[in-house]
Amino acid sequence: MKILFATSEVFPLIKTGGLGDVSYSLPNALVELGHDLRLILPAYGNMLKKLNKDNCKEIGQLMIPGAGHIHKARVLLFTENETGVPLVLLDIPGLYGHRENPYVDNKKQDWPDNAESFTVFSRGVAMIANDEIDCGWRAEVVHSNDWQTGLVSGFIKQAGLDIKTVFTIHNLSYGGNFSHEIFTGLDLPQAWWTLDGIEFYGNFSMLKAGIVFADHITTVSPSYAEEICTAEAGYGLEGVLSHLKHKLTGILNGIDPDIWNPRTDPYLATNYDARYRRLKGKMDNKTALLHGFGLTHDNEPLIGFIGRLVEQKGVDLVVSIIPDIMESTNSKLIMLGSGQPEYERELLDMAKHYPDRMIVTIGYSEAMAHRIEAASDIFLMPSRFEPCGLNQMYSQRYGTLPVVHRTGGLADTVVDASETNINNKTATGFVFDKTDRNDFLQTLRHAIDLYENKKIWNQMTMTAMQKDSSWQSSAEKYLELYQS
Ligand code: ADP
Ligand code: GLC
Repeated sequence: MKILFATSEVFPLIKTGGLGDVSYSLPNALVELGHDLRLILPAYGNMLKKLNKDNCKEIGQLMIPGAGHIHKARVLLFTENETGVPLVLLDIPGLYGHRENPYVDNKKQDWPDNAESFTVFSRGVAMIANDEIDCGWRAEVVHSNDWQTGLVSGFIKQAGLDIKTVFTIHNLSYGGNFSHEIFTGLDLPQAWWTLDGIEFYGNFSMLKAGIVFADHITTVSPSYAEEICTAEAGYGLEGVLSHLKHKLTGILNGIDPDIWNPRTDPYLATNYDARYRRLKGKMDNKTALLHGFGLTHDNEPLIGFIGRLVEQKGVDLVVSIIPDIMESTNSKLIMLGSGQPEYERELLDMAKHYPDRMIVTIGYSEAMAHRIEAASDIFLMPSRFEPCGLNQMYSQRYGTLPVVHRTGGLADTVVDASETNINNKTATGFVFDKTDRNDFLQTLRHAIDLYENKKIWNQMTMTAMQKDSSWQSSAEKYLELYQS
């Protein structure tokens, strides 16, 4: 099949979170299954710098309407590039050339022209899918992701093209909502401004556009597919999602088995796997990481956290339990992330308070993320909601047992260390039920206590490491969907 995969970020060229990982690993899995897939992104300046110009071919030009004027776009194709699959970039320097981060400026404010930039990108995707550049490649299916590409299916429908569209919701809390004035300025079809169109509480929502116009909607775990049809997790879209449930499927994300493999991971001090030198290799990584920060290692459990420091991730719950954990156990804690300034400050203050026990790094580092996964014994993911979550699966592969809230993809990927699950050797982590500090604290304490029981702990890490979280079966589900 000819598949055009439209996304606003992709590992390793430009990544802010899990969408970047999925936009890398799912297309690679689809190509491995024998399909003719092209990735398409805006040509952010930051990304163009990283690509080898010798591999670039201009395959066409387009004139694309934006807010009040027409943008001239060059369409670039990199057949060889870091994503592993053919990459098409829509190059409009005035819109994307200055962007280091796809969504925000260096003061973490949304780019003021986000509505126009992603509308123009979505128009471009529809035109390229239909081969309006006349390069001899026309898509049968366009798969778009999150609000930035939400309008793609609308433009394809509007033009009456015989191209099928799939839209994936990675996170319903980012709606891409803009005013009526912007709607008019972008010259979007007036007929779209209705309750069952893209109007959304007096504004319009690009995410809702993806939902209403796509031939099929997916989200990234079966549990999240159920949750978003309820008022609790639906962000006001639960009505339309329940109504369209017949075209909504939850397909669990996978992880890339080569990028996240403790046996070959180039960032690690010592490589290890579930069979050979498992305990020793993992222990070496813990010693190396702690020593690197000037800390000692005395066989205490190391607790890790990596992620965006935002409410979704339950960072406030982590902050609220740190004093208890520090006072009542001998654990050490290492955290990596960036996000809301108040959380960054609170965590740095706490690290100052427990200098021998707690490390906090504010920033973004692929290398350190890999090292934390390998070095930690326990990984924290108390997310309020989690469409899928990748870090709990990376943790399991690295023999690091996750402590997670029973929500979305966390509920679908972690088997709780209940007595029954321990006895039948299926447990792969620790799951608590309520978004509540006490529930979280109690579950983390259970994990810390169980860490002393080496027989059970080793059994659990072994089960977690051997679990298959690869893309194989999920990629096949996407293909079935495309084919249907
Ligand atoms: P989300 O997409 O909601 O942020 P996921 O768990 O799906 O959550 O994916 C997050 C991805 O981003 C993981 O690959 C994680 O390792 C990575 N990540 C998040 N924050 C950082 C950071 N500060 N440094 C390095 N990697 C990070
Ligand atoms: C989103 C979600 C996360 C998911 C990722 C990739 O950012 O917050 O749960 O894993 O997308 O689908």
